[in-house]
Amino acid sequence: MKYIYVTYLFILLALLSCNESKKLEINSPDGKIQVIFDNSNSKLNYSVSYNENEIISKSKLGFDFKNQHSFDSILQIENFSIRTFDTVWEQPWGEQQFIREHYNELNICFTEKGDDKRKFSIIFRVFDDGIGFRYVFPKQDNLDYFEITNEKTEFNFSENTKAWWIKSFTKNRYEQLYQLTDINDVDTAHTPITIETSDGVYVSIHEAELTDYAAMSLAATKKNGFQCCLSPWSDGIKVKATAPHQTPWRTIQIAKTPGDLIASNLILNLNPPNVLGDVSWLKPMKYIGIWWGIHIGKWSFGPGINHGATTERAKEYIDFAFKNGFDEILVEGWDKGWPSDVWFDNGAELNFIKSAADYDLAEVQKYAKSKGVSIQIYHETMANTVNYLDQIDTAFNLLSDIGIQSAKIGHVGFKLDQKEYHDSQYGVNYFRKVLKKAAEHKISVNFHEPIKATGERRTYPNMFSREGARGQEYNAWSEGNPPEHTCILPFTRLLAGPMDFTPGIFDVNIKSRPYNRVKTTLAKQLALYVVIYSPIQMAADLIENYQNNPAFQFIKDVPVDWETTKVIDAKIGDYVIVARKDKNNEDWYLGAITDENERVFKVKLDFLDSDKRYEAQIYRDADVADYINNSTAYEIDEKLCEKGEILECRLAKGGGMAVRFKAIE
Ligand code: NOJ
Repeated sequence: MKYIYVTYLFILLALLSCNESKKLEINSPDGKIQVIFDNSNSKLNYSVSYNENEIISKSKLGFDFKNQHSFDSILQIENFSIRTFDTVWEQPWGEQQFIREHYNELNICFTEKGDDKRKFSIIFRVFDDGIGFRYVFPKQDNLDYFEITNEKTEFNFSENTKAWWIKSFTKNRYEQLYQLTDINDVDTAHTPITIETSDGVYVSIHEAELTDYAAMSLAATKKNGFQCCLSPWSDGIKVKATAPHQTPWRTIQIAKTPGDLIASNLILNLNPPNVLGDVSWLKPMKYIGIWWGIHIGKWSFGPGINHGATTERAKEYIDFAFKNGFDEILVEGWDKGWPSDVWFDNGAELNFIKSAADYDLAEVQKYAKSKGVSIQIYHETMANTVNYLDQIDTAFNLLSDIGIQSAKIGHVGFKLDQKEYHDSQYGVNYFRKVLKKAAEHKISVNFHEPIKATGERRTYPNMFSREGARGQEYNAWSEGNPPEHTCILPFTRLLAGPMDFTPGIFDVNIKSRPYNRVKTTLAKQLALYVVIYSPIQMAADLIENYQNNPAFQFIKDVPVDWETTKVIDAKIGDYVIVARKDKNNEDWYLGAITDENERVFKVKLDFLDSDKRYEAQIYRDADVADYINNSTAYEIDEKLCEKGEILECRLAKGGGMAVRFKAIE
């Protein structure tokens, strides 16, 4: 597509020379979203309308600083500029190969009226799928080092409507079940937070390009709105910076259907393009691992007679990966320093270079390579970033030497270094440092106990996946994730970016653990590979549970890199039906999941290509199956089909359907 870049500059000398109320307005390219910046009485405010209905009513902007005046009034607009930007860029991997970036931008520059004469700017970018705005502190004589004690940004709604959210500042970080409450009942919440208005408009508030700043949570104002609440340093300061500096983009995705939220590329579009150049070394991939067996108590993380990570077992997994076309195996607890009993300690003994006594990393990797497989290294830091950063260069050099190109890096612990929140500026800078170092070593990253994703994968495409929500592991040792959990994630957590959820548990009843179970049918486990996007997907179960099970064929077939994604139908918390086209051939895949209710859909196969016929390989819940009874019962049907036909899609309670549409002519 043609690349268009237009810049207009208006200097508003006459209009802005007095203290009257000033309003500046900027619309989305399709004209449906309108942002009004309002400088009445020298206070900074904005509001947002969609289809001429106000969604965000008058909301404050500004900052409080330590030892400096606030930035929220006595500011004079120096000038403003408007421009339009329209281009199409290509993702090296993703749920959509080509993305259009099309917005109108309003950039307003302010100067203080008093003696300080500090300057700052606010930039609004308005897309057809939402808006982003950020504050910029330019290089200047009157502002050097500064400390932000409060960012005053508000998101006020016109009514007390409902939101899906999880609480901030908890010990389990983002690993919670979502709550659906009135917005006035929201406690301090992580973003993305997703809101449905009484007019049936879907709004999600998040941030993009979180760099050298504290993550934004939202605190309910109890007046139908939220105020930005930045994650503090342990000394209470929110952000420490030197001009020039800028905040992340504050983002508001606006959609007329829940599916349109999933289709939105706003967060990615507000991040800078790839800085790594040629990233052909990055390979989206599928993996298995010595992992679930540890979580269900069959093996231990640390040393002992049941140690999971042994050279012998790793080789057995490599043989299985080789035979079944998996690219990597993950081996947890492979290194020295794991406590033998309770592993939740301060991680000071963890060693990222030396293998445990019964494991030989170099030998295992050599064996893997001989079979065309590789190890995905596991670095569990136990949130001790000091210990990790002390060893990271040597550890990454070792990986480069033996040809390991992907790393799962864990951060179990309430606070980093027992002091700072994961999503504080301290943590944000730590995670970025590790990501950049990994890129230097051509390593892709899978962060666990991460900070939230804010679209940085566009700039650093080695940022493959992360946890940052309740994943499959909770089914192994807690009361488990209820069936609706995975019907909420696509509209909340997954709007931020890919998740390493680790689907594919076939023994959903977990035979060895009478008090734990996975609350889905087996067919739903298959559908999750299509519904939950990640460029790396694990087949998480014990390998023996896949042996001789025909449903395993779907996990072997399903790709991890897509040309196109289409949301066919969705209702937040109830059901999701997604279709995606393989990036490397003409096949389409469909994943449909439901909550605890049985549902029947007639899916029109409009997404298929008109010049092709397909063999549909349908993995569906058996008639007797639901997530409580006969949950592993499924049927595989095959039939020929083409674009426009209807596919009946019956989902059992807690069930799902996964379909491969294999292009045959
Ligand atoms: C939590 C991670 O999410 C999980 O994948 C890992 O196995 C454990 N931490 C142990 O490090």
